[in-house]
Amino acid sequence: MSGTAQEIDLHGLLEPVGQVESYLKDFIDQRPLPGNLRAAIHYGALGGGKRLRPLLVLRCCQAVGADMKAALAPAAAIELVHCFSLVHDDLPAMDDDDLRRGRPTLHRHTNEAMAILAGDAMSSLAFELIVTRIADPVLACSLVRELSIATNDMIAGQVYDTLPDFAPGTSDMTKLTTIHHHKTGALLRCSCRMGALVGKASPDRLAAMTAYGKAVGLMFQVVDDLLDVTQTTEHLGKTAKKDEAQGKMTYPSVMGVDKTRAEVARLHAEALAALEPLGAPAQPLRDLCHYMATRSR
Ligand code: IPE
Ligand code: IPE
Ligand code: MG
Ligand code: MG
Ligand code: MG
Repeated sequence: MSGTAQEIDLHGLLEPVGQVESYLKDFIDQRPLPGNLRAAIHYGALGGGKRLRPLLVLRCCQAVGADMKAALAPAAAIELVHCFSLVHDDLPAMDDDDLRRGRPTLHRHTNEAMAILAGDAMSSLAFELIVTRIADPVLACSLVRELSIATNDMIAGQVYDTLPDFAPGTSDMTKLTTIHHHKTGALLRCSCRMGALVGKASPDRLAAMTAYGKAVGLMFQVVDDLLDVTQTTEHLGKTAKKDEAQGKMTYPSVMGVDKTRAEVARLHAEALAALEPLGAPAQPLRDLCHYMATRSR
């Protein structure tokens, strides 16, 4: 596995986050909206977060030889969908969480009706952003296709997680991978594919990005499950030890912490193997994968 924490220039790797945040804020601010809805969207979309999905969009676009800036619209759009998913995930009818990104969840900060409506708005604004900011209609259409499929897969994943309806006899491992590939994997995989599409990647390179996105997408949620049991609420900025309390099906609950760590290492290696055909220009994606595997919040 390449890339130790010391070798990685984390500051440089994460540097485009500021551009994504300004782009997102500009888009939200140019859109006529009721003032209280705008404030709620600002709170849900602009208040912190690692911005890993936008970084994947930009770095995948760069890895196939294009200018990252060309991918700012889908990068900001997928962050809007992600933020919508978090706002709804935290609602009392879902995970019932009071803390997100180190501060009260949106429904605690405002109220449930506003959190539901702000989440709805973030979702549709994401698609509006793509179709109004991408000049090439063929590209815009393919990005909307990717993002709408991934959004619906994320929603299906939240259903598998919260209202499971698996066929009798489905194994725990199948349930777990189905939940995680959908609720979290879909948006990360889509980030990689959208970056590659903006960069006009060849079919082989698009396939490599899809394989990388699938591995890091699952790995991301496996790490999230691990952090829930190994970190504190203060460090995470969201409530720790929540999954067991709510009877969630997670990697640590099904296979224990040690095997979960081994699964992170396996998926990390799988992601790096997918990048092999891309050579040196994919180094930021190797570094990002390392960061996602070793993060502590
Ligand atoms: C949290 O995602 C929800 C999951 C899908 C695991 P992130 O860990 O990317 O959350 P932010 O955006 O950095 O707050
Ligand atoms: C999040 O899964 C999945 C989505 C938001 C779609 P979790 O429920 O584990 O995420 P956290 O731990 O609340 O961030
Ligand atoms: Mg959840
Ligand atoms: Mg949750
Ligand atoms: Mg979690």
